[in-house]
Amino acid sequence: MAKITFITSDSQTITLEGFSGSVMALAVENGIKGIDGDCGGVCSCATCHVHVAPEDMEKTGNASQIESDMLELDDNVDKYSRLSCQLQISESLDGVILRVAK
Ligand code: FES
Repeated sequence: MAKITFITSDSQTITLEGFSGSVMALAVENGIKGIDGDCGGVCSCATCHVHVAPEDMEKTGNASQIESDMLELDDNVDKYSRLSCQLQISESLDGVILRVAK
């Protein structure tokens, strides 16, 4: 189990508990504003873009090459960007804070 906190673009802070699957799926199931998951999690839409809190980057690790290539198409990309469909829920993500990208 991992507790994952989302901060939406309208500054709502929502903490969810996840057990398996992707962070994107958890967010969509719980109606997190700004995470749409349009491609279903196959790394081809970037509607699941989040900025990881800098201190939590070691929990998420860095984006893969294919993920980075997709993120580069988004104007709001920064060095803390990840596609949440590529983050699998596990104990190692517990406590992570994710700001939903604009
Ligand atoms: Fe499409 Fe993540 S859901 S890239």
